[in-house]
Amino acid sequence: MPEPIQLFDPASSTFTYVLFDEATRDAVIVDPVDEQLARDLEVLAKHQLKLLWTVETHAHADHVTSAGLLAEHAGAVTAAPEGCGIGTAAVQLKHGDPLDFGGERLIALHTPGHTAGSMCYRWRGHVFTGDTLLIDGCGRTDFQSGSAAALYRSITETLFALPDDTVVWPGHDYKGRTHSTIGAEKWSNSRVADKTLAEFQTIMNELNLPKPKRIDEAVPANQSSGLRHDAGGGGAPQPPQGYAGDVAPQQAFEWWQRGEAVLVDVRTDAEREWVGFVPGAVPVPWKQWPGMAFNEGFDAALKAAVPPGRKALLLCRSGVRSIAAARRGTELGIESYNVLEGFEGDPDEHGQRGKRGGWRARGLPWRQG
Ligand code: FE2
Repeated sequence: MPEPIQLFDPASSTFTYVLFDEATRDAVIVDPVDEQLARDLEVLAKHQLKLLWTVETHAHADHVTSAGLLAEHAGAVTAAPEGCGIGTAAVQLKHGDPLDFGGERLIALHTPGHTAGSMCYRWRGHVFTGDTLLIDGCGRTDFQSGSAAALYRSITETLFALPDDTVVWPGHDYKGRTHSTIGAEKWSNSRVADKTLAEFQTIMNELNLPKPKRIDEAVPANQSSGLRHDAGGGGAPQPPQGYAGDVAPQQAFEWWQRGEAVLVDVRTDAEREWVGFVPGAVPVPWKQWPGMAFNEGFDAALKAAVPPGRKALLLCRSGVRSIAAARRGTELGIESYNVLEGFEGDPDEHGQRGKRGGWRARGLPWRQG
């Protein structure tokens, strides 16, 4: 059975998981942490993975997600439980919904209790339990719409209904443990094993935990996929701004053919190799986030690619990174446009591409990598 890649954020003791199809390299990331963005992008590159989805188990109170940043930098689509108030997530998951990646499928399980919207995710013989079920523990239920009674039912009726040998991958561990099984938790979890609902409620009521340090900042930030850190949370998401505009692939092709514009492919070398490329487009991989030294590499390469007086047409996989790159090009003084829907087009709600056409699906020239 394939195993997930387990990653750890020591500051919040949070586990992040990367799951992928070994043949197609299509991947999903579960509960990514904003401060680990660079690490996670490196892991994806090292394993040659195409990140299709980011998914959250809930709106976290102890760290901020990098989902929105991963959408910009890796072209992923954001998914989150529909009951968590994460309005920026492109896909709002209901109980039983699948997320497909290559030939693999992750299934959402609604497991209220830690928060009302919390979900666990099942993949083959694995279950990613977020803060619903921890190793010899469980998430707290005393804030954020938590309910001890609901958590008891989610653990004993939904999770404990899975086969005993299902591997439990928790959202946190504070003692260096990495995983468990449904059977082990059923027999030995000190909060739920052999406990009645009333006993469980008493245990949870007597925990008397301090308020999480980052809750006032983290919950509103997570409800915007980590893109807004204004703890007040007010206001609508910003519309795309700060670049010359969006152009359809056919229009972009015409400008490029007439010599008015330079076509710049901001995907990674690996993406061009696996998926294909546009002959003649200039490769300038998009790598940029605040404070990183390699920003200068992108800036210099983009300036070198686009002579004065020409427009830049930024092309990525699905039209997300290209917007970020077009904004950066504009800051550098280049008239920069985003090519709508990118090279491959957006995946539909099950991760399938090609129904909404990008460059390739519209019959414009391209070649296999
Ligand atoms: Fe949590």
